[in-house]
Amino acid sequence: GKSILGLEYLSEDEMNLVLDTAKEMKNIINRDIKKVPALRGKSIINLFYEPSTRTRTSFELAGKYLGADVVNITASTSSIVKGESLRDTLLTVEAMGVDAIVMRHKAEGAAEYADKVVSPAIINAGDGAHAHPSQGLLNMFTIKEHKNKIKGLKVAILGDILHSRVARSDIWGLRKMGAEVHIAGPKTLLPRFIENEKGIFVHDRIEDAVENADVINVLRIQLERQKTGLFPSPREYARIFGLNKERLSRAKDDVLVLHPGPMNRGLEISPDVAYCNHSAIQEQVQNGVAIRMALLTLVLMGGKSLEIND
Ligand code: CP
Repeated sequence: GKSILGLEYLSEDEMNLVLDTAKEMKNIINRDIKKVPALRGKSIINLFYEPSTRTRTSFELAGKYLGADVVNITASTSSIVKGESLRDTLLTVEAMGVDAIVMRHKAEGAAEYADKVVSPAIINAGDGAHAHPSQGLLNMFTIKEHKNKIKGLKVAILGDILHSRVARSDIWGLRKMGAEVHIAGPKTLLPRFIENEKGIFVHDRIEDAVENADVINVLRIQLERQKTGLFPSPREYARIFGLNKERLSRAKDDVLVLHPGPMNRGLEISPDVAYCNHSAIQEQVQNGVAIRMALLTLVLMGGKSLEIND
């Protein structure tokens, strides 16, 4: 089947097809015709080994709006607790005859592994620090809605780059679309392998990354993945690296502020910036449903040119 494992595997044309399809889906949602029978008879399993509010719920709503049957498996209430392996869990789900598995797992490469083990389409809903392709796509969709383009924009990505699958999917997607990506955060949270190359610029100071930016994506500090606690301390982090009104004022007048959620308000982003008129954080959540409707349709029904990991 066709799986969505990461934006590194999608071409610019394929990403544009997803964004265009999502636009149609958003029109359907906005016209309040939420039930479209496009995926009637298809079944989708949400298999989540890590917590989620937005991604799991929006994949579930997306599938249901399109008429599919959607079932959720949450690790903590499943036989995973009894020690069933990932491989055996996947084979069990496959035996029930599902068409797609939307999967979140703490290990990088878990979705690619699943794609090799079972035949239903796999949609990666986050694998460790590797990729979160539907989040990358909804970020690009939100940028395009506001700026009418992606090419040539200066996009700043701030914070915990090291642990962020959102940052990686953003970088893959935005670079292919021709945006200039500036990343910044404390050295402890920047991956060592990232260099100033191919339109990616690395900064130690938030101020330098946000200078004249069209878009600022503030990442969540992933407290659960800090091996030796957050360094610098939360108070220092907010003071030196947090996005506040003063730092925001260095960006373009019409700067768009994104955050994938959930937010640590007062840590990586100040409350006044989170809810200022530049912020599209709630719109991102809304757009996430349309993006996931598009992905499920293209994966399960095929698209004119969508040949992803076929
Ligand atoms: N942005 C995101 O992935 O949020 P959830 O963890 O709530 O799904």
